[in-house]
Amino acid sequence: MREQLSNYVERVLYTPEQIQARVKELGAQITKDYQESRADFLLVGILKGASVFMADLMKEIDLDVEIDFMSVSSYGSSTVSSGDVRIIKDLDQHIMGKDILIVEDIIDTGYTLDYLKKNLLSRGAHSVKVAAILNKAERRVTEVEVDYVGFDIPDEYVIGYGMDFNQKLRNLPYIGTLNPVYYRDKQ
Ligand code: IMP
Ligand code: MG
Repeated sequence: MREQLSNYVERVLYTPEQIQARVKELGAQITKDYQESRADFLLVGILKGASVFMADLMKEIDLDVEIDFMSVSSYGSSTVSSGDVRIIKDLDQHIMGKDILIVEDIIDTGYTLDYLKKNLLSRGAHSVKVAAILNKAERRVTEVEVDYVGFDIPDEYVIGYGMDFNQKLRNLPYIGTLNPVYYRDKQ
């Protein structure tokens, strides 16, 4: 028998309504900030975690944007982030001269984001900024600026709204903490 999703959740952190309200605010701010730029505007969603946030955020940006996706992973152990980031799926297009907004689910150590920012800037992007629905500032190892943050959270493992536990639970419509029963398998 399959487990119901709610059995995996210890505590609801953000309801769908709270998330939608915050994403609306982020979209409005981004619309304002990018209105004056003449460069092409490209949203780069980082698969798979940011897929849900990306779908919501793009609908709240009232500007003519293009979208693309990248998939990256860290070398070594799958749960402990390392500085070595590898591109699994690259962008479909050149980004020379474009305004790039990286759309991420959560910034943890900052390794992934630091790599992505440097990588995209090195391809000649006009600008590279970042939007993340969650930010775990306490966990930061690499200093990296996050331009648009949905919610700042403490160091707790979260699931839902695109974020996974062992590749599952991404379809949970809210953001919650993982039931401690499952912690043992986490790392
Ligand atoms: P980092 O900032 O390079 O350490 O890695 C960030 C990535 O790790 C995120 O994009 C997520 O995919 C994943 N991640 C970090 N913390 C969590 C969490 O609490 N739940 C689910 N995924 C997480
Ligand atoms: Mg991710």
